[in-house]
Amino acid sequence: MIDLHCHILPGVDDGPADLEGSLAMAREHVARGTRTVIATPHVSWDYPTTADEITTGVAALNAALREEGIELEVLAGAEVALTRAVDLTAKQLAGFRLGDGPWLLLEAPISVDSPGVEGLVGIVQSRGVRVLLAHPERCASFHTDPDLLARLVAGGCRAQVTANALTGFFGRTVQASARRYVDAGLVHVVSSDSHDATHRSPGLIHEMEEAGYAPLTEWMGEQVPRSMLAGIPIPPRPPFQPAPERRRWFRR
Ligand SMILES: [Fe+2]
Repeated sequence: MIDLHCHILPGVDDGPADLEGSLAMAREHVARGTRTVIATPHVSWDYPTTADEITTGVAALNAALREEGIELEVLAGAEVALTRAVDLTAKQLAGFRLGDGPWLLLEAPISVDSPGVEGLVGIVQSRGVRVLLAHPERCASFHTDPDLLARLVAGGCRAQVTANALTGFFGRTVQASARRYVDAGLVHVVSSDSHDATHRSPGLIHEMEEAGYAPLTEWMGEQVPRSMLAGIPIPPRPPFQPAPERRRWFRR
């Protein structure tokens, strides 16, 4: 699996505080079937992480992983807050792309309903990056405007859902949103958004299976991420029908 959204660099954001914490996460990634992760530290007004810090941190972590014999590859990326992204130039935004591909992981405000999301995303897109929306199921704007994600996807965005959101870690409202988006074909990537080895921990395969989405794991956790990193067209989603028991669950 390829995990496109993961806070694994030590000491840069709300991920692990030190290298030991990063190595513990790396071991957990490998144990759960992930071989490549993109380090996506927060880039926001609260965490003014620079592209140079990320590049340096990724090189140091890869060296430590080789030394420890942990078979995980780490590439550079970032999770750029929408409110920060609109103030960055095209060149600055390019420095935060996922790997060497054209995609930028963009985080809409989580707790504040921001009516201007669509326009702001358009501004970011106009600066030459393709937008992968981080966990829309957790963002208030997407809850208050149920069609927002469909409009953004129609406008060229793609969406990442967090694996344990599908299994209820963030509560039933977030879980229902995540499942509704996947069932509607509006989600393209599943990631861990992991911050540590034990609480907000790595893992995709088990969570997808538990949530009833095993037939989509390979596409959302491997094929689409690989295509995004390579800058090639995303392959079509395999046929998938939501399980009957989950359709009943939604009607309750
Ligand atoms: Fe994140």
